[in-house]
Amino acid sequence: MTRYTDDSRDRVRDAVDMVSLVSAKTDLRRAGVDSYFGICPFHEERTASFHVSPGKKLYHCFGCQASGDPFDFVMQTEGLDFTGALEALAGRFGVQLEAEGEDPAAAQRRQRRERLQSLLGRAAAYYARYLWEAREAGRAREYLLGRGLDEPTLRQFRVGYAPSAWDRILKASRGSGFSDEELLSVGLAVRSRSRPGQLYDAFRERIMFPAADARGRVVGFGARAMRENQPPKYLNTADGELYHKRRQLFGIDLARPAAARAGRMILVEGYTDVIALHQAGLSNAVGIMGTSLTEEQVGELERVVGVLELCLDADAAGQDAMMRAARAAAGRKLELRVVPLPQGRDPADLIQSEGADALRALVEASVPFVSFHVDRILERADTRSAEGRDRAISELKPVIAELAPSVLREEMIRRVAGRLELSEGMVESVVAGRADPGPKGSGAGITKRGALEHGVRAERTFLTLCIALPAEGAAELAEADLDELLTSDAMRRAARHIAERTEAPLESLPSDDEELARLVADLVGRAGRAGVVSAQRLRHARLVLERARLDRAIRRARAQGREDIPDLARHREEILEEIRGVVANLERAV
Ligand code: CTP
Ligand code: MN
Repeated sequence: MTRYTDDSRDRVRDAVDMVSLVSAKTDLRRAGVDSYFGICPFHEERTASFHVSPGKKLYHCFGCQASGDPFDFVMQTEGLDFTGALEALAGRFGVQLEAEGEDPAAAQRRQRRERLQSLLGRAAAYYARYLWEAREAGRAREYLLGRGLDEPTLRQFRVGYAPSAWDRILKASRGSGFSDEELLSVGLAVRSRSRPGQLYDAFRERIMFPAADARGRVVGFGARAMRENQPPKYLNTADGELYHKRRQLFGIDLARPAAARAGRMILVEGYTDVIALHQAGLSNAVGIMGTSLTEEQVGELERVVGVLELCLDADAAGQDAMMRAARAAAGRKLELRVVPLPQGRDPADLIQSEGADALRALVEASVPFVSFHVDRILERADTRSAEGRDRAISELKPVIAELAPSVLREEMIRRVAGRLELSEGMVESVVAGRADPGPKGSGAGITKRGALEHGVRAERTFLTLCIALPAEGAAELAEADLDELLTSDAMRRAARHIAERTEAPLESLPSDDEELARLVADLVGRAGRAGVVSAQRLRHARLVLERARLDRAIRRARAQGREDIPDLARHREEILEEIRGVVANLERAV
């Protein structure tokens, strides 16, 4: 674990603004010099007995006796350890940390990252100040307040405004010692096309929504146009060293504590939606910024909550987005639910016109994803013709077949039977039929499955690809520690058998191991149907297993209270980085 210098800790403490820090959790009222009071965030109470002293950087509750400094506050409200709290605060308040005794290359990488983060943090602070103070930001203020967002919430999200002048950020950043290269690589400046060598501010005359990582460090911006004829409507930071669109969840830093407590996260489309929900007291909300939910985002969310409430548009595009979200979450532990938004209304508008309670009621009325999926198939089905009903039932079959016996399953069967005018027994028997697993790309993979089964599937995919690409497969298998990499004994036996003969895996199967024979035959069959395979896909499958192996190793290390967890975690990050690289390549290839 990184240990930071005492000096770093002191500099962070100095930089912390206690009022803005605590205000994110509870409203504070000024009560005198260096004195604020609010409702205690650590215990239930009606009267404000929580005291904050911004000058001394301390808080104390006269009710429950909770007290401490900024680090204690972050540790207690965000479930972080001291180092995590230190890093979070350093990021949030733009302080560069120095670690003790770090190897030079790692130190350099970290310093580079921290410099870029601090550059972005300063820019965000600049834009925010500009929004509230500059004359030319008046229209933007009116616009935001007119949409029902209030100042404290906008400040909490560090919403800002980019000046119309072409060089404000450029000048301010250069003045603070940042280089042009640094400005370019975080996307705050762009090169002039007409005057080579000349830079100018990338964002001008736009409302600035800072995108932060889970610890509140700014990594990029979404910038909304303010004028007509100012395309695009949103100008977003391009992917680069710090910003990765696929990993980004708007508001995650502010939503994580509440979501962890509630066990669920609300997923919305836009920046204003997230802010409006937080303001309405639904602070377990994050935004996917108009794109579809990615596997990276699912992975991030899965670590925080068990349930995801999809609060996306009810129009066709929104419905497709939910289907894609389900695909991204397939095989994960995350339970998906769908919030029934009225057509054409986004959450921000709903809250503004109907009030926060209306939206809260809708979120509470969310339905399991399967139920949404079944309804969607039924709605689209042509129930007048026999063919139409047949088509619907074959589409529904894999969806319902995934459900374990349950009240929900019964209800789905009743709904289908009613709608297609079939007996429940008929639907039941069609659905129970094991013969046809449904064509590739049908709904089969969409609904939730256990994590265990997912693991087994990943192992199967790897071995399938080893057979489909015999030369590369043999190399991968020879190199891997199969006992570590694979989790079931049968898979290990199969892997050892295949490793010797990826060209002809069905040869020399032992006659006394029927399970092995069946498994290998199944894998060979899958390899035959695998379609286009590439070394990249094999590499991907291998990396996925490696990642799962590290997950297991980390869990074990945790259970044993071992100290090498950070090494394992770092290794896991490297693997994840590699996976992202391979995935990007694969996507480029299609
Ligand atoms: N978005 C984007 N680029 C665009 C359009 C949209 O990145 N050209 C993302 C933004 O994150 C936006 C979200 O998609 O917040 C939802 O789009 P939309 O509903 O158009 O934006 P809102 O933020 O809701 O904007 P408005 O103020 O018009 O409600
Ligand atoms: Mn909108």
